[in-house]
Amino acid sequence: MGNENLDELDKPIVDTRATGIAAPGQAPPPLVILAIDDDPGMLRFYKAALTNESVRVESSTDPLRAVELAESLNPNLILLDLTMPGIDGMEALRRIRLRDPEARVVMITGDYSIESAIRAIQAGATDYICKPITPDKVRGIVQEAREQVDLTRRESTLENQLAEVFSLEGMIGRSPNMLEVFDLVRRVAPHLRTALITGETGTGKELVARALHELSPRAHQRIAVFNCSALVDTLAESQLFGHRKGAFTGAIADQAGIFEWANGGTVFLDEVGDLSQAAQSKLLRVLENGEVQKLGLPQSITVDVQVIAATSRDLNVEMKSNRFRPDLWYRLNMVQIQIPPLRERREDILLLARRFLLDFASQYRKEIHKISRRAESALLAHSWPGNVRELENVIGRACMLTRTRMVDLEDLPEEVRNQSVRTAASPTTMEDAEKQAVVHALGITKNKALAARKLGISRARLYRLLTKFGLDDDLPTEERFNEAADE
Ligand SMILES: Nc1ncnc2c1ncn2[C@@H]1O[C@H](COP(=O)(O)OP(=O)(O)OP(=O)(O)O)[C@@H](O)[C@H]1O
Ligand SMILES: [Mg+2]
Repeated sequence: MGNENLDELDKPIVDTRATGIAAPGQAPPPLVILAIDDDPGMLRFYKAALTNESVRVESSTDPLRAVELAESLNPNLILLDLTMPGIDGMEALRRIRLRDPEARVVMITGDYSIESAIRAIQAGATDYICKPITPDKVRGIVQEAREQVDLTRRESTLENQLAEVFSLEGMIGRSPNMLEVFDLVRRVAPHLRTALITGETGTGKELVARALHELSPRAHQRIAVFNCSALVDTLAESQLFGHRKGAFTGAIADQAGIFEWANGGTVFLDEVGDLSQAAQSKLLRVLENGEVQKLGLPQSITVDVQVIAATSRDLNVEMKSNRFRPDLWYRLNMVQIQIPPLRERREDILLLARRFLLDFASQYRKEIHKISRRAESALLAHSWPGNVRELENVIGRACMLTRTRMVDLEDLPEEVRNQSVRTAASPTTMEDAEKQAVVHALGITKNKALAARKLGISRARLYRLLTKFGLDDDLPTEERFNEAADE
């Protein structure tokens, strides 16, 4: 597997600055540039220098107003004067980057100093340029921004295409593990009789079950979903298999069970490990010869259903302690689909996160376009005990909280945020700095070999550092897929 695929993990599906992705043959929309300078002469100069370019130049002499404009216009490039009355360029830069940590801001100054240049770059400026500045130089800056925007546009189009390829009936994933699951679902569904889906909570067992049904010949028939842990024994039995009037207190009329209701279609039994012994033996009869034993009815009725069962427990353990019938397990287990936990398929994390982001943004009618890089690093580093459901909740909450058009670190819950290293935080010791650099490089590259190269150290040294900081297990392990490519 090439590294290109993993590199794309770092890129947003839709970038705010890549608005209006042009259809083939259509000219891309002009770049939006915001020029901020207290000297109106400078603003006229920028406009004159760029008259022949495909750009839209907005400008302001008031830095406070400009900060607002930066938020509402979402420009592709901001040209920002350093010395201005009111708030100075540095403060304006800080406020702009606070709202959009990825804004492309070029500082332009009449009084150069190394300290202010360093401060500007540290505060996130893309570049720091001294006046006097020539029209050619302005066009050069714009050209660089344009190349960056084009790149992002191409990547986001590619990303959208990839998302289409790597989805099946509403499930998305690009990890080799998940692609295997998709493949199995596609192969099994046409001949489905029974299947067992295993996986931790929130891994997508119900989605897989629905996909199996949708891709099966019975897709146009009913699917009944039943959670075996939701009801106590008799009630569960009566719901599943039905009952006759008077079969138990409260059975005031004859009632068809779920198997009867879904006859001809599919029954999905969630948490099948929680079925009572009595229900288990009744289920076995349904699977073996299609016979449904209604409560209070001596003879059985016949149904024709396909049964999909799911469990988040280890049924082997349940069998050993005699809580689950081995004969039922053999029946169900003829086809087993194992869904790996999210921590074992980190390539899916950002793909899923971005999809959820788009969904929640439209649900909340908020204009949220992306997740900041540092927030993405935190998402990648988290271990996701609640799997995809946890990720969905985290993104949902973040979309609700964010006041900007992007989800950033502060919108993530503490347990996720803590996994990341705030690049802005100042380290207290050399060791801290070393650790931060390592974690950051791994967050970006998601590959130990690449991270070592980025850090300018040998792989052996990186491994020593990982052991020293006890980071070995916490970090993305995609190197499994990449190291071969790296050799
Ligand atoms: N591959 C995926 N692509 C998109 N959404 C997913 C994917 N996997 C899971 N989800 C979403 O995550 C949530 C949890 O999925 P689901 O209910 O299928 O999990 P589960 O394994 O049945 O969990 P539980 O064991 O708790 O019942 C759902 O909202 C589902 O839509
Ligand atoms: Mg479920």
